[in-house]
Amino acid sequence: MCGIFAYLNYLTPKSRQQVLDLLLQGLKRLEYRGYDSTGVAIDGASAGDDILLVRRIGKVKVLEDAIGEVCRGEGFNQPVDIHIGIAHTRWATHGVPSEVNSHPQRSDVENSFVVVHNGIITNYKDVKTLLEKRGYVFESETDTEVIAKLVHHLWQTHPGYTFGELVEQAIQQLEGAFAIAFKSKHFPGECVASRRGSPLLVGIKAKTKLATDHVPILYAKAHRPHGQPFPVLQAGSDGSAEFQPLEHKEVEYFFASDASAVIEHTNRVIYLEDDDVAAVKRDGTLSIHRLNKCTDDPHIREIITLKMEIQQIMKGNYDYFMLKEIFEQPESVVNTMRGRVRFDTQSIVLGGIKEYIPEIKRCRRLMLIACGTSYHSAVATRQLLEELTELPVMVELASDFLDRNTPIFRDDVCFFISQSGETADTLMSLRYCKQRGALIVGVTNTVGSSICRESNCGVHINAGPEIGVASTKAYTSQFISLVMFALVMSEDRLSLQQRRQEIIAGLSQLDEHIRSVLKLNSQVQELAKELYQHKSLLIMGRGFNFATCLEGALKVKELTYMHSEGILAGELKHGPLALVDDEMPVLMIVTRDPVYTKCMNALQQVTSRKGRPILICEENDTETMSFSTRSLQIPRTVDCLQGILTVIPLQLLSYHIAVLRGCDVDCPRNLAKSVTVE
Ligand code: F6R
Repeated sequence: MCGIFAYLNYLTPKSRQQVLDLLLQGLKRLEYRGYDSTGVAIDGASAGDDILLVRRIGKVKVLEDAIGEVCRGEGFNQPVDIHIGIAHTRWATHGVPSEVNSHPQRSDVENSFVVVHNGIITNYKDVKTLLEKRGYVFESETDTEVIAKLVHHLWQTHPGYTFGELVEQAIQQLEGAFAIAFKSKHFPGECVASRRGSPLLVGIKAKTKLATDHVPILYAKAHRPHGQPFPVLQAGSDGSAEFQPLEHKEVEYFFASDASAVIEHTNRVIYLEDDDVAAVKRDGTLSIHRLNKCTDDPHIREIITLKMEIQQIMKGNYDYFMLKEIFEQPESVVNTMRGRVRFDTQSIVLGGIKEYIPEIKRCRRLMLIACGTSYHSAVATRQLLEELTELPVMVELASDFLDRNTPIFRDDVCFFISQSGETADTLMSLRYCKQRGALIVGVTNTVGSSICRESNCGVHINAGPEIGVASTKAYTSQFISLVMFALVMSEDRLSLQQRRQEIIAGLSQLDEHIRSVLKLNSQVQELAKELYQHKSLLIMGRGFNFATCLEGALKVKELTYMHSEGILAGELKHGPLALVDDEMPVLMIVTRDPVYTKCMNALQQVTSRKGRPILICEENDTETMSFSTRSLQIPRTVDCLQGILTVIPLQLLSYHIAVLRGCDVDCPRNLAKSVTVE
């Protein structure tokens, strides 16, 4: 949902070309967040020149080519001591993808203030009207343009304000969600960034070791009389500490929407909190300001060390990130269980929620709230959670949950499942439940994400960075995380021990089983050749495999743009059977679980309407296979884990169909990885 990236160099002199290369590299890492249009702002080629904006419709490659054309000549190769560049990759919300709607957006034709933004300013029309009355003429259809113009207006009306103070004042007028980074010709060598609701981090790369592991927060009064110095109320937690910005000579900073854009440069980052304003001055000092002090604020922002490795965000030998991530699943599921499941003692410890288990056991009900694929992981594990916790379990799509103003009680335990940890609907549902006193459990793949930080406790799924827009390995890791939670909840239930043991045994073999399923790849590719020109694909199953049908259909839709529907086999005769004939491709999941006989009934209903189903069934199940000419055989495992194995052929199938249809697998049209707007 838009990626922002800024590079601030106070380390060693770099040419504009080098700065541009760094910006483009950062954008490429963030491209999965949006790829409708891109843009950069750097200093003009000679001293005194206006800020140079290069913006293009399309992906980063288009921008790169344009930069190759526009930014040529001597001026671009001369090293400069200090340079600030800001960059953006856009997923359009307000205004069609066009050059003028691309970011950076500007305050005026002289590019006095330029800004990149991720999020939506909900009151932009009011701010726009106000600015128009003051003579500002708008050129784009974006909500972002008001931010640049508002800062310009404040600069004109509040002489003497620092760049950081201007942004601090501006964000007071803005409603909605934003992560923003500014550059200005009036504040050369400086950059200011802020966030509310959208993610933003600061990467710090210093030549020598940093003298501190945190940056204190500087609190300031909201308003000051014109011309007066900005009053500093307090620094540090008790008001006594003297405020110290992060001072380090020879340093580079990065502002980025997520860590994948900075990890090749540094693993030292600060995750900014809502309403933080991070300002870097011309001398390279970084300070973090806030207007309002909230009671539970730790008064410092810690500089943390990321564990992410650069290889994790590279494609390696794979053509697409999605394929790489599908093939990573034997390892990612092990990483999810690592240090948590002890196969020798049959015990499971989830460190992030351990202390809350007694409270969770006393709860009224479990609510699992998420969007898209993450929601499907809730559907996939609901039955097991009901079985092992003996609690009512509700699964909710976050958007619908909010629309309904669903009643929530203090003794509810609410799980928020999100790969990115930033999905707006899920995050807003979290806040809604938190306000009503429920216990909040985050299940995310992104350390430091908003959901992670705003939860009372949680589970990191540890699947490693997922770059392909279509979620694959995060799904299987979310699935396992929820299974582990169910196992923890049933640890002391004697009657459930045998069941627990068979599930833990299933978990111990999961990586091997996934490897066997991945060997079906070429068979799935052949199947894709048969299916890719069809308009539609129905995917049917029930019980533990229903979630696989929903998830498989979502993968097919988003990657191939074909129509696809996940159908609960029990509902077949209540409508969907009318779609079945000898033309309609139907895929059926039939495994030897408690609903096997019912699935076989559905299979027969399909074949007796001349349907020619393709089966996903267990290895050597000749009886089931006799109902079809085409089947994909997967290893047998315990019923509640079967969904992890049945979903992988569908991940592969959607991938191969997408390739055959010429679709961009990692960047499906109209989508973005992290949906930080409602
Ligand atoms: C589909 C997909 C999306 C996400 C959904 C929620 O492949 O990736 O449906 O699952 O947008 O995203 P997260 O999990 O980041 O909250």
